[in-house]
Amino acid sequence: MVASRIAVPGRGLVPPGEPVLRGDDLGVLHGDGLFETMHLRAGLPWLRDAHLARLARAAAAVDLALPAADVLVGLLDAVRAGWPAEMEGALRLVCTRGPEGGGPPTGYATLAEVPAAARAARRDGVTVATLPLGVAARARAELDWLPAGIKSTSYAVSTAARRWAARAGVNDALWLSSDGYALEGPTANLIWLTGDTLRTVPAAETGILPGVTAAWLLGHAHELGLRAEERLVTPAELRTADGVWLSSSVRGLVEVHTLDGVPLRRCARTPALQAFLGFPRA
Ligand SMILES: Cc1ncc(COP(=O)(O)O)c(C=O)c1O
Repeated sequence: MVASRIAVPGRGLVPPGEPVLRGDDLGVLHGDGLFETMHLRAGLPWLRDAHLARLARAAAAVDLALPAADVLVGLLDAVRAGWPAEMEGALRLVCTRGPEGGGPPTGYATLAEVPAAARAARRDGVTVATLPLGVAARARAELDWLPAGIKSTSYAVSTAARRWAARAGVNDALWLSSDGYALEGPTANLIWLTGDTLRTVPAAETGILPGVTAAWLLGHAHELGLRAEERLVTPAELRTADGVWLSSSVRGLVEVHTLDGVPLRRCARTPALQAFLGFPRA
């Protein structure tokens, strides 16, 4: 995803190649920052307020002073102004702790076209392999010192998992706890359907990222005549589900058609669910 636009507080849009961070910014040195990625559709960031609320919760959890809410909204407005309404965008809002030794937090927004691979995944689905995370499902949430479920700029573990997936010849990974539960992907939540119940993994119990996309879908499932539930799941159970998906803000909902080399049942509801979420299929 190559940012074609970048906006900075007080300066508005800047040329994408222009520096916006100091070399001693703690976001760079320590990955000490937070971000949100939103889907820009018809020129507007979808579920903007839910993303800003998650950012604010994460900032409180790591004692990071965010720029004021109107500054953040101003950044989003500046970066999206004039973006063609028919072009899907991936809009990222980044807030770091700022320069080492103290200084104002750094904030900026980037905007890029949704990558073709993300749009293809909506149409074609993805192959996924489980990847051991080495911790029990509830272990991280039980540690009171560890801020769980925050969207930190420290993505080293996620990018390592995605490199592993590429080496393994699959499209994505699904982290597996040491006690055998499927948790989430490196950049996506897990959703599955059994009968008329749509389910996802409980974030509060496991410390995974509470996904904005998954929360919206489960929160509106009743409009489709479906029930919604959060609970833990094993890969064996996923293999008997009526549909399995990964959800995230930019890809939307992508069907997992193969898990650990075993084909899963394709779900006829996938196009309708994607349309319900407002994501074009191709
Ligand atoms: C680890 C992880 N889980 C889940 C998600 C999905 O969250 P959302 O739907 O809010 O994009 C992401 C998004 O990037 C993620 O990085």
